[in-house]
Amino acid sequence: MFIGLDLGTSHLKGIVIDDAQNVCAEASVSLSLMRPKNGWSEQNPQDWLDATENVMASLANKVNLKKVNAIGLSGQMHGATLLDKNDNVLRPCILWNDTRSAEEASYLDSKTIFRNLTGNIVFPGFTAPKLAWVRKHEPNIFEKISKVLLPKDYLRLWLCGEYVAEMSDAAGTSWLDVKRRDWSDALLAETDLDRSQMPTLIEGCEISGVLKKTHASKWGLPHGVIIAGGGGDNAASAIGVGVVKAGDAFVSLGTSGVLFAASDEYQPDAASAVHTFCHALPNTWHQMGVILAATDAMNWFGQVLNSSAQEMTNDLGVLKAPSKTLFLPYLGGERTPHNDAQIRASFINLDHNADRQAMIRAVIEGVAFAFRDCFDALSSTGTKINQLVAVGGGAKSEYWVQAIATALGLPISIPVAGDYGGAFGAARLGMIAYGINRYDVAISPKIKHIIEPVMSLHDDYLSALKSYRETYKVLKAIG
Ligand code: XUL
Repeated sequence: MFIGLDLGTSHLKGIVIDDAQNVCAEASVSLSLMRPKNGWSEQNPQDWLDATENVMASLANKVNLKKVNAIGLSGQMHGATLLDKNDNVLRPCILWNDTRSAEEASYLDSKTIFRNLTGNIVFPGFTAPKLAWVRKHEPNIFEKISKVLLPKDYLRLWLCGEYVAEMSDAAGTSWLDVKRRDWSDALLAETDLDRSQMPTLIEGCEISGVLKKTHASKWGLPHGVIIAGGGGDNAASAIGVGVVKAGDAFVSLGTSGVLFAASDEYQPDAASAVHTFCHALPNTWHQMGVILAATDAMNWFGQVLNSSAQEMTNDLGVLKAPSKTLFLPYLGGERTPHNDAQIRASFINLDHNADRQAMIRAVIEGVAFAFRDCFDALSSTGTKINQLVAVGGGAKSEYWVQAIATALGLPISIPVAGDYGGAFGAARLGMIAYGINRYDVAISPKIKHIIEPVMSLHDDYLSALKSYRETYKVLKAIG
């Protein structure tokens, strides 16, 4: 048996699979997010540990964990967890969707060494600019930093006592030489840090340590359970849906939205705002377009309407041409293709017919247009996507997936019922670390059905996309 733990933004999820990859148990605990100021987004690392305790207790209740061989970890990327020399957490973790360090990010990005070595823009959400922000605004904390860990790697420290990061998540820090798969001393020095403050690097399918005996005894696991490197949530999800070689791709409708394509070469194109990161397997990389609010936009609107995402998407019927009402989902700024931390979301063109359903459709369509922007950005780098698999909570809405398929003009496959998210991918990485051949493990899921684009509406989508893009320019101009 193998366990996957995914430290997401809104939930910590655990999954247990057997040797044939059947899901034996699942458990999930919600996590809250603090937004003390506009553009800020933080979590208390202690909450992750408490959530893990609850998830493990609940898994242990559902299934006997005595046969577990390995645990794999997946997690929200980019967060800065700052530890002092006794491993005390120095401040709340600054998360991936926090844009406070926009100024520091653009300063670091202006130094050519960053794009040259990391292959990426230094986005405000990435880790290095967060440290530059702490250096400037909280110098008393900065001087106490002994280790900087990504969220899942802090969880790892608690699980096995090792300071270890793996390549896919480390690639999102802006300190990794992404081609050479090693920390760059020169990049670290740009934020007054050095290698001693970084965890040891391994590949996602390698062993990072052994579960502490105290945890093992408490949760009913055998002693000697290994912990695999794991992956950033997107790379881990990719392992979960078997997206591992050039031409394989998926679209993830989670809190953030991601269009992800695997690649067997390092082919960066930072200017396109496409992210080029290491994959969770050796000698593989991936490219992705990232939008900051996918289901996050729907959940935000759900709070306004006092409705669940499911209630909102249930009775939309067959796909319609985009409504006149446009929604731009930039609630906390945008990464691909704009790299714009200041932009905010908007509804425009509201008229007397703009009822609840028209506005819900506008949110769905706005996210579909944002994916089309990512698709064009990826295509501009030469990456070809012929077909996509959809994962993430938002993929439960057929209307939404078909809106994206129609905006892209591409079919999107829906896997048979099951979880192909980060937790499942992490459990698969646990299998590979345990010694099972990766080609037998990271296979594609069975497809339940393929959602075809509605080509009779494709032109309507493209013309609404044009207005969407024009609107962004106007919004930017009016600040
Ligand atoms: C990727 C990114 C998000 C987070 C949250 O660059 O910031 O997808 O990993 O899930």
